[in-house]
Amino acid sequence: MNKKFGVKILSTGSYFPKKVLTNADLEKIVETSDEWISARTGIQERRISEKNEYTSDLAYKASLEALKTANITPEQIDLILVATVTPDMFFPSTACFLQKKLGLMSIPAFDLSAACSGFIYGITTARAFIESGLYKTILLVGAEELSKITDWTDRNTCVLFGDGAGAMILSASEESDDVLSTYIGADASYSDLLFIPAGGTVNPATVETVNAKMHTTKMQGRDVFKAAVQKMAFAAQKALEFSGKNLEDIKLFIPHQANMRIIEAVAKKIGISMNSVFVNIHKTGNISSATTITALDEAIKTGKLQNGDIVELIAFGGGFTWGAAVIRV
Ligand code: UT7
Repeated sequence: MNKKFGVKILSTGSYFPKKVLTNADLEKIVETSDEWISARTGIQERRISEKNEYTSDLAYKASLEALKTANITPEQIDLILVATVTPDMFFPSTACFLQKKLGLMSIPAFDLSAACSGFIYGITTARAFIESGLYKTILLVGAEELSKITDWTDRNTCVLFGDGAGAMILSASEESDDVLSTYIGADASYSDLLFIPAGGTVNPATVETVNAKMHTTKMQGRDVFKAAVQKMAFAAQKALEFSGKNLEDIKLFIPHQANMRIIEAVAKKIGISMNSVFVNIHKTGNISSATTITALDEAIKTGKLQNGDIVELIAFGGGFTWGAAVIRV
């Protein structure tokens, strides 16, 4: 592709619902223990949205923060992308609801579905739109309310997930090139290891599908774990290679926060110290497409990253999908 512009990352923002669900709270819901959850996953608590607080509400609040940090008005945005597997509705898209909440009209808005790799797919898409010259200022959001697609009687999954949203504003630039590389992949041979069986055209909603709890996340944890380690390490190496940078050039690695043991295994496989890996899973749990962007935002806010630092975001999720992006903040 003939590249017309570079990409400048103007800002990030994030938002979490107020309600905290601790491991101790979960002990009262299913047969589990703080000890098991902490040791096997690294998660201590997660945020849970209210009944009347929707994915687009979290997306909106994260977006407002990103707009404020970038010091731009919503009117300066010319495309909205929302990565999510927990949209407000099948349609209209959550991006459309977000557009309305931002008081915008006419600009294009659409959702991206790539499960936990959604934000990396989103950066890849935003980058292509900007580099081609098609859009100039893009609001990219990863927003999820996984609590609303969770079977709260299934201890294999309900201890893992949480809610939250992160936003990034990217714009066309003649000087900067903050997205050094992206790499994404997918393999549907494993689609039944991590999925929601019903609600789509395969199993439309019926009384039976609801009673059989087919509208909530199902996962073969051990198999997903193994694939996550392999694919995240592979994606990290690929994106690094495409960026022309070395491991030493990366100030911080920000992997998808699904399981502390996965994060440690990926770090070992890539050959990096855990000192250069950002972790906030203990506070958030797995928030799918919102993990890497909320973690990036926290790393910036807490001073772990300074202007000009190079970061690698790495993700893996249902599909399977995977990806990594080397960016300058
Ligand atoms: O975001 C997309 C990517 N998602 C992931 O990457 C998640 C990948 N998978 C995982 O993180 C892990 O596989 C889990 C955290 C889901 C499970 O950890 P594990 O070490 O693989 O445990 P396991 O599934 O092999 O289960 C071990 C034992 C079982 O008991 P038995 O059969 O050994 O008696 C489970 O029944 O732990 C039991 N168990 C629990 N015990 C207490 C499973 N869940 C729980 C629980 N509390 N919540």
